[in-house]
This record gives sequence, C-alpha cells and structure tokens, in this order.
Amino acid sequence: MIRFEQFTKRYPDGTTAVDDLSFEVSEGELVTLVGPSGCGRTTTMMMVNRLIEPTSGQILVNGEDIAGVDPVRLRRRIGYVIQQVGLFPHRTVLDNTATVPALVGWKRAKARARAAELLDLVGLDPKRYGPRYLDQLSGGQRQRVGVARALAADPPVLLMDEPFGAVDPVVREQLQEEFLRMQAAVRKTVLLVTHDIEEAVRLGDRIAVYGQGRIEQFDTPGALLGTPATPYVAGFVGADRGPKRLSVTEIEADDLEQPPVARLDEPAGRAAERLRAEGARWAVVLDTRGDLHGWVGIDELDGSGTGGSVGDRAHRMNAWVPVGALLKQAFGMMLQHDAGWVAVLDGSRFLGVLTPAKLHEALRRSVYADALGVSRGEVAFDSVADA
Ligand SMILES: Nc1ncnc2c1ncn2[C@@H]1O[C@H](COP(=O)(O)OP(=O)(O)O)[C@@H](O)[C@H]1O
Ligand SMILES: [Mg+2]
Repeated sequence: MIRFEQFTKRYPDGTTAVDDLSFEVSEGELVTLVGPSGCGRTTTMMMVNRLIEPTSGQILVNGEDIAGVDPVRLRRRIGYVIQQVGLFPHRTVLDNTATVPALVGWKRAKARARAAELLDLVGLDPKRYGPRYLDQLSGGQRQRVGVARALAADPPVLLMDEPFGAVDPVVREQLQEEFLRMQAAVRKTVLLVTHDIEEAVRLGDRIAVYGQGRIEQFDTPGALLGTPATPYVAGFVGADRGPKRLSVTEIEADDLEQPPVARLDEPAGRAAERLRAEGARWAVVLDTRGDLHGWVGIDELDGSGTGGSVGDRAHRMNAWVPVGALLKQAFGMMLQHDAGWVAVLDGSRFLGVLTPAKLHEALRRSVYADALGVSRGEVAFDSVADA
C-alpha cells in the first residue's frame, strides 16, 4: 500500500534526517514509528503527503509514485492528524470535522451528516459536542475531533504524528483503546509516530524502531520484544520486556487450570461433602450447559444448614476474561477484584481459570518462545524453569 524505496532526506543545512530507508506498509496495516526525538519519524511521515520532498528515493502509494501526483489531490486521500494543530478554534466541532468533505465539494448537509457519524465513531456525542467550540473541550476531546476530522473524507491512508501526546496517561490509554476499536472497524492504512515504546507496541501491527535516520528493526510487537535485533533496540524496549509481553500475549486454553466444580442444581450439602473429600475449599459453579454461573466457598455450602442447592449460595463471578484476551487484562482483573484467579470463558462457556502461577508460566513461555522463534506450545515448562 505504501512503499518506501531507498529514500533519503538531507535538509539544506546538511542534516541527514532519513538515510536510505526502505520498507512497506500493507493495506489496512497500522505501523508505528518509534524512536527518540530527532530520529527522523516526522520527516518520514511528511514525505508521504509531500509536505516534504525526499532528496532521493521513491515513495509509492498504491503502486503509484507520489512524485507525480498533485500534492493537493494526494492530501485529500491521506488523513493527517497532528497534535493540537490544524483545528479551527472559531468553528464548531461539527464544522471542524466537516472541513475536508466540504473542501472536496460535498454538499453541506452530506458533509455535516458524515461529520456527525464520525464524531459518534470517536466517542463524542454529536448532539452534545457538535455545536461546541474547540475551547469548550478537554485536551482528550480535542484530539478525538482531530481523529474524526482526518477520517471525514474516508481516506484510505492515515498519518498520525503523536496523536495522543498531549493528554494525561489515563486519557491517553482510553484514546488508544478507542482508536484500536475504531481501526478494527475502518481498517485504514496507518502510519503513527510516537516516542513511547508502550504505545508503539500496543497500537502497531508492526513497529519501526528508529535510530538516527535509520530503522533498526521493523517487526511485530511479539518479535520486537522477544528478539530485539540490536543492542540499541534491546535498550530501547527496555529491561522489563518480560512484563511488556503481558500486553501482547493472549491467553490460550493450555494456560488454564481446572478448578473444583459444583453444579448449579446440585444439593448444597452433598456438594460440600464431595468437594471436602476432594480437598477443595471453593468451587466454580456451572450450569448444566457448562456456562459459568459464579463461585462458592465450601464453608458456605454447609454453613447454616445444608438445605437448598449450590445455586442458592453461589456468588457472582466478576473476575473473568474471554479466551484470547491478553495476559495483561487477566492480571488487571486479578488486581481489580482482589482475586486469586480469573475465570476464562469462551462466549459464556467456562474453560478454566488462570492463576498467578499459570500467568507467570504463560509469560515466561511466551518470552522464551519468541527468543527461540517457536510457538508458545513448543516450549516445555521445565526448560523455562531451569533457565
Ligand atoms: N526543516 C529542517 N531543517 C533542518 N533540519 C531539520 C528540519 N526539520 C527537521 N530537521 C532535523 O532532522 C532530524 C529529524 O527530524 P524529525 O523528522 O522531525 O524527527 P522526529 O520526528 O523523529 O523527532 C532532526 O535532527 C531535526 O533537527
Ligand atoms: Mg516528530
């Protein structure tokens, strides 16, 4: 979709901002450009919409060398989101969002309808926020307007330069999450510049780690964290790359433990007896279809008499995640609910529980699997424990 071929940018003062880079971004792919300040990320991005011309080399968008495309026409096919810049303070949120469709000649009503749709998509109620002026919005809301506006003319390509830079960490994480949800729906080809390796890994399908004017590694999040290509990259992704894998490793059925189980309609007294004999102190409560109902402590099953069924005495289970969720989510769930384990569900069907020990095991297997270039299932836990 976007192909960079041996492109170089030397500024007139002799600074080589980008030095002989080649890489490709596929259609619908989100690539993050990460590195320290001054390493050439913005320069790379601005060459895609011809705000900067390369000194040598080519950039192809959809197979077409952009050197031959009229810059104004080119930019209408490319959404551009930059921090705080480019929005008009004296226009309403709705009009700001409708800027590009209006520019390319859409009828006013159609442009505004589209703008309302986009505001909704980025999580701003168009009725409530559409009529406001920009200075009546928080920083995070303004950034959402920036994203909505860039998407308004439905461009296939989106360039984003530190789009979530100017907000506090909590809002930042919200915006990232919403952006990922949106991207899953609209599947734009995205280049996103950030200085934050966490953000790069969280958002990117692939990540280009920049050194001075060069790409040190261009890889998936897992490969980048598991096998940094150079000492520079290793330093950049940090010593805590194990914990960082929490954010990229999905829970698999193999990671789970099978806890004691009680049936919803089982008589409480009989269940208590059976579970005590098994040495259990608590049990997961399932209905006849194997769906999760909740959990129950053994003492609760025969405390204050043994009448009734397990279901009468069960608690709701709040600490659960879907299979395929990230280890980080499961870990967060454990902390949030102060739970010693989280249930893992496939739809509503109960698959097993993830315990702290199992989570740790999954994490270590994941780091090793990546370092060895094999799948997680191929790493025996012994080899990990010994290492
Ligand atoms: N107009 C310019 N003239 C001269 N040097 C520039 C200009 N714009 C950027 N640079 C230099 O090019 C290098 C790369 O800049 P930039 O692409 O903005 O980096 P990044 O976005 O990664 O922080 C830096 O050393 C910067 O100072
Ligand atoms: Mg920059």
